[in-house]
Order: sequence, then structure tokens, then C-alpha cells
Amino acid sequence: MNSQAFKDWSGTALAQVESALDAWVPAEAPAGLGDAMRYAVLDGGKRLRALLVLASAQAVGALTRAAGRDAALRAACAVELIHAYSLVHDDMPCMDNDVLRRGKPTVHVRFGEAQAMLAGDAMQALAFEVLTPVPVDDGSIVSAAMQARLCRVLARASGQSGMAGGQAIDLASVGTSLDEATLRDMHRRKTGALLCASVQMGAACGDLVESSPVWEALTRFGLAMGLAFQIVDDVLDATQPSDTLGKTAGKDADANKPTYVGLLGLEGARSEAEDLLAQAQSALIDSGLDAALRAPLTALAERIVHREH
Ligand code: IPE
Ligand code: IPE
Ligand code: MG
Ligand code: MG
Ligand code: MG
Repeated sequence: MNSQAFKDWSGTALAQVESALDAWVPAEAPAGLGDAMRYAVLDGGKRLRALLVLASAQAVGALTRAAGRDAALRAACAVELIHAYSLVHDDMPCMDNDVLRRGKPTVHVRFGEAQAMLAGDAMQALAFEVLTPVPVDDGSIVSAAMQARLCRVLARASGQSGMAGGQAIDLASVGTSLDEATLRDMHRRKTGALLCASVQMGAACGDLVESSPVWEALTRFGLAMGLAFQIVDDVLDATQPSDTLGKTAGKDADANKPTYVGLLGLEGARSEAEDLLAQAQSALIDSGLDAALRAPLTALAERIVHREH
């Protein structure tokens, strides 16, 4: 897939995701909560997790059926809601204490800490509401079994065994130096888990069973990609200016966080990310999925490792 074809593919996918999020994140939530939620999630971010869901759903052929398309769009929005909630909480003074996110003041700076906490809480719940539509109300055609499966994958990646657990390790590790195995475990949980879940949710939209070789290959792809993503985030924090990142640069060193850059140096971290990219691409080939159908996943993996923000 050349870069124009990827641009076209992702442009269409992103437009669908933006318009669905706009429709599903309620402005009318009480006492200004809706404003904080919409500020946190709409019109910002690279939407890499949503794109991974849709690319994975396409790779397994799920987008040729209306139910698969509906499930994939819901899963794409749900993972972005969880991700946006994790960012709102990550930026709060009790965590990373950041004032800039996606080129704008962070949610707690704009709306206050209590509202930021509640917006995060409400976005987490909304993610699971989006995955479990009431059929009569909105005409959804996603089966109850598929709804449950998507919820299971997303919940496990978000909670103590995934993102929240990784964030707890992150906070407990400030000022310490971690060995590579422990740092890898932290990165896999705090960031890798949601990226891998994005790939798995896309695969689930095609009814792929969890014991199948294709599921296993896509999971290997997602795990490698997810870890590479956070290693690149560590590299960018140390190398890019704040206006490129849309968030305050150099925060990891300032806050004494253990990172891949701290452990392996810049070149070491970059080369680790390249190794993981190669592992991800070969897992994708091992999947045996049609090369044209899996092309957006291949392109996304490349973009995740070679991005500049
Ligand atoms: C940033 O994620 C937070 C991490 C998990 C490292 P992204 O770089 O995907 O942030 P957005 O969604 O594009 O703003
Ligand atoms: C955040 O990691 C991971 C999350 C679960 C939100 P970072 O703290 O490195 O993310 P940024 O750099 O603030 O985006
Ligand atoms: Mg953090
Ligand atoms: Mg942070
Ligand atoms: Mg970071």
C-alpha cells in the first residue's frame, strides 16, 4: 500500500470515527461533565488505536458485513474513549502533572481536577455503553455474544492486568531504575495492552476464535506493536519539542521516570523499536491473511514506529 493509498484509507476511517464519537459523547451530561468529556476526546489525537481496530477488522474480512462494520466502529470508538480517559487521569497533578495535551491545556487545567476525574470515570463507562447498544433503540445489529467478547477484551486490557496496573507500576517506579524485564512488563501493561486489544477487537469483529492460528499471529503482532509504541513515546519525549508533540517535552527525565531511553540510550531504544517492528511484520505474514486486506495493518505498524509525534 503506497502512502497515498494509506492516506485515503485512514482518511475515510478517521472521518467515520470522528463522526461516531461526536454522536456518542453526550454534550448534555450534567453540570458541565459533557463539555469536559467532549473536550477530552473529540478533535484530537492520532487515533492509532481506532485505526488498528478498523485495519484488523478489514484484515480478517469483517468489514464486508454490516454487523462487522458496526461492531468495528463501536470497538474503535470504545478504545479511543478508554485511551482518552487514561490520558486525562495520567495528566492530573497526582500522576504526571502535565498542563499540555494534544496542543491544548489538559482537562484538569481547563475544567478543574474533580471534573477531570469524573470525565475520565464517565468516559470509561461510556466505552462499555458504546459496545453494548440496546438493539431496539439504535438499530444495532451486533450480537450479544460479540458485544460480550469485545467488552471482555477491552476490560482486561484496561484494568489491573493492563493499563491501570501498568500505570501503578509507573508511579511506583519514579526515581528507581528498572531492569529490562521489569520495564518491558510496565510498558506492555500501561500502553501495549490497549494497542494489542485494539488488534484483537478488530479480529473479534470477524468472529475469529481465540485458539485459531490467525488470532495467535495477530496477537503477536499487537504485542510487538504495543511495546514498540511506548518505546517510541519514550524516544519522542527525549527528542522532539513540545509544539511537535502537543505535550510537554522532556517530562520523563524531569520526573525521573524509568524509560527505554534511560535504560538503553537513544540509539538502543530506537533499535529495539525497529526489532519489534520486524517481529510485528513477520507475525502479520505468519497470519496468512490476504496481503491486500492486511495492507493497512502493515502500514500502521510502520507509522507507529516511524512517527514524529
Ligand atoms: C500517548 O498516546 C500516551 C501513551 C500511551 C504513550 P498517543 O501518542 O497515541 O496519544 P494521542 O491519542 O495521539 O494523543
Ligand atoms: C501514559 O504514558 C500511558 C497511559 C496509560 C496514559 P506516558 O505518561 O508516557 O504518556 P504521555 O507521554 O504523558 O502521553
Ligand atoms: Mg504517565
Ligand atoms: Mg504522561
Ligand atoms: Mg510519555
